[in-house]
This record gives sequence, C-alpha cells and structure tokens, in this order.
Amino acid sequence: MASTSTKSRILFIGGTGYIGKFIVEASAKSGHPTYALVRKSTLTSPRRSRIVHSFKSLGVNFLIGDLHDHGSLVNAMKQVDVVISTVGHGMLTDQVKIIAAIKEAGNVKMLDFPFLLFQRFFPSEFGNDVDRVEAVEPAKSAYDVKVRMRRAVEAAGIPFTYVSCNSFAGYFLSNLAQPSGDVPPRDRVIILGDGNAKAIYNREDDIGTYTIRAVDDPRTLNKLVYIRPPKNIYSFNDLVGLWERKIGKTLERVYIPEEQVLKLTRGDVMMALNHSILVKGCQTSFEIEESFGVEASELYPDVKYTTVDEYLDQFV
Ligand SMILES: NC(=O)c1ccc[n+]([C@@H]2O[C@H](COP(=O)([O-])OP(=O)(O)OC[C@H]3O[C@@H](n4cnc5c(N)ncnc54)[C@H](OP(=O)(O)O)[C@@H]3O)[C@@H](O)[C@H]2O)c1
Repeated sequence: MASTSTKSRILFIGGTGYIGKFIVEASAKSGHPTYALVRKSTLTSPRRSRIVHSFKSLGVNFLIGDLHDHGSLVNAMKQVDVVISTVGHGMLTDQVKIIAAIKEAGNVKMLDFPFLLFQRFFPSEFGNDVDRVEAVEPAKSAYDVKVRMRRAVEAAGIPFTYVSCNSFAGYFLSNLAQPSGDVPPRDRVIILGDGNAKAIYNREDDIGTYTIRAVDDPRTLNKLVYIRPPKNIYSFNDLVGLWERKIGKTLERVYIPEEQVLKLTRGDVMMALNHSILVKGCQTSFEIEESFGVEASELYPDVKYTTVDEYLDQFV
C-alpha cells in the first residue's frame, strides 16, 4: 500500500553491490524509507561488513531474503512503493523473479484501487541505452539481456524507469580505460579507434543522487533517465589532452585502429563494450527525445555534479 510519508519507500535488491551502495546511501540520506533485501550470509560476511555497518548507521532497514526465494521477495514487495534492482550482470535474467513477485504482491496498477499503486520498478541497468547501442559480440549478447528485461517489464504492465548513467567514473576514468594500472598513465596511453567518439563519465555518488531524484518524479515515469551532464562528455583525445594539461606532460599516444580492436573483441566482453563506447560512441550517437527520455542534469539543475575535470584532479 502506498506510504503516508511524502517520500516513497524504496526496496533495493543488490544494494550491497558496487553501484547499489551509492544509490542506497543517496536514498537514505534524502529521507526515503530505505529497505535492502539481503541474504543472511551477507549480514555476517567480512567482505560486506563495512557496507552493512554503513547502511545501519544510515538507518537502512534490512529484509532477509534472496532473489531465488519467491516468498521473501513477495514479502519485501508488500512493504514498499518502489523497487530498485542493482543486481550484477550474472543475475540480470533472474530479475524475471522480481517481476513475478511485484505482480503477486498484488499492488501493481489496479484501476479499482488506485491507492494500492505499486509505484515503480527500476531494473538493473545503469549503463548504456541498450535499445540504442551499436555493439559486436560478446557485448551484444550482454546488452540483449537488458533489452529482454525491459520488454518483460513493459509486457507485465509494471511502471518503470530505466537509468542510463553511461560510464562509471571509477571504472573508466580512474585509469583512463587502460588495459592495466590503477591510475591514469603518465608516459603512454592506448587509444581505441581514432579517439574522436564522445563518451560520458559520471561519478558513482552523482549516479545515486540523480537516480533517487527520479524516483518520485512524474516526469521520469515510464521513461529513460539519461545522465548526460554537459561537462562530462569527452572524446578520448580530449580526455587525454585534459590529463596532459593537468600533469604538464605530453603522452605518447598509441592508436589501435578499429579493425584491430574488432579482432581483440573476440571473447573479450570488456574490449567489446569499449568498442561500442569508445569507438562507436554509442552513448552520444543519438538525441534524447521527449517521447522516450529525459536528461538528469536538465531535470535537476540544482544538483552539483562532479565534472570529469574535477574528478581527474585526485590523480595529479
Ligand atoms: N556503467 C558502467 O560503467 C557499469 C559498470 C559495471 C556494472 N554496471 C551495471 O550496474 C549494474 C549493477 O552491477 P554491479 O557490478 O554494481 O553489481 P555487483 O557489484 O555484482 O552486485 C551484485 C549484488 O547482487 C547481490 N546478490 C547476489 N546474489 C543475490 C541473491 N541470490 N539474492 C539477492 N541479492 C543477491 C549481491 O549481494 P552480496 O552483497 O550478498 O554479494 C550484490 O549486492 C548492472 O546492471 C551492471 O551491468 C555498469
């Protein structure tokens, strides 16, 4: 049943994962009653103790459950208005179990009982717009899993928002998408393709902030929310130029032509994803149209996002 609180109650599935923890934090800090479905073992796992402790201090409510335990999902759904899934890649197809539970919880849009509305499902997306990417295998199959999940949500008639946050800064900017190293290079940089395709890099806590702002916003209902802030759109050549100015040094630029990149994609999902993002420019190759999407920094101009320029300062 809908909450009497002005902010909807949000359930996270996969909230202890890489991106999930940032969105959970944004949810709790912005005053949403916040629930995390976790397996019992997660609560006592040394690997997760820091996150569990942090969630406790933020007032997050833990619900013991498992994506593979239908009863626990239905029980959790009954307590909330919105579900955000941030399960990892290996579990994306299992999200059909979330769809089934939302339906069984009995609070999906029922015209006779409008006060019983289940408000919204955010499936695990948080990447490129999978309906508009150009990709080769194995990235194509990886994107297709998310496409199938979108169609299943829509076929079930569940209200949704898909967040296309483009590249996580922590994954792509922290070492300038190099094959090795934890920090941006200082001598030699590998550039896939001609380096002119534009990509988008967002810090994870900003992704959390924008996602939570979208939760109760009617403008984002049944829409894609793109996180495409103007200061975070860079071609790889410009990104390297920015880094060079920061460290006061010119790097040796090693360009890998697309034909060679394509050979390297065989059996390498990361290389194939990089091909679609950095060579094909799939994050910026289309305009956002009102009929299907909205852009987060336009919707929420008061959010002070971290720019790519500011993000790279930490590595100088
Ligand atoms: N845009 C980008 O640059 C980018 C980069 C990477 C990923 N992504 C996308 O982000 C999304 C989330 O990926 P991620 O890498 O953040 O996920 P992740 O770190 O792999 O997190 C997986 C989560 O699922 C939970 N989980 C595992 N098995 C479960 C079960 N049986 N029942 C309930 N929960 C279970 C885990 O809980 P435990 O704490 O128990 O392990 C964890 O919280 C994906 O859609 C992925 O494609 C985007």
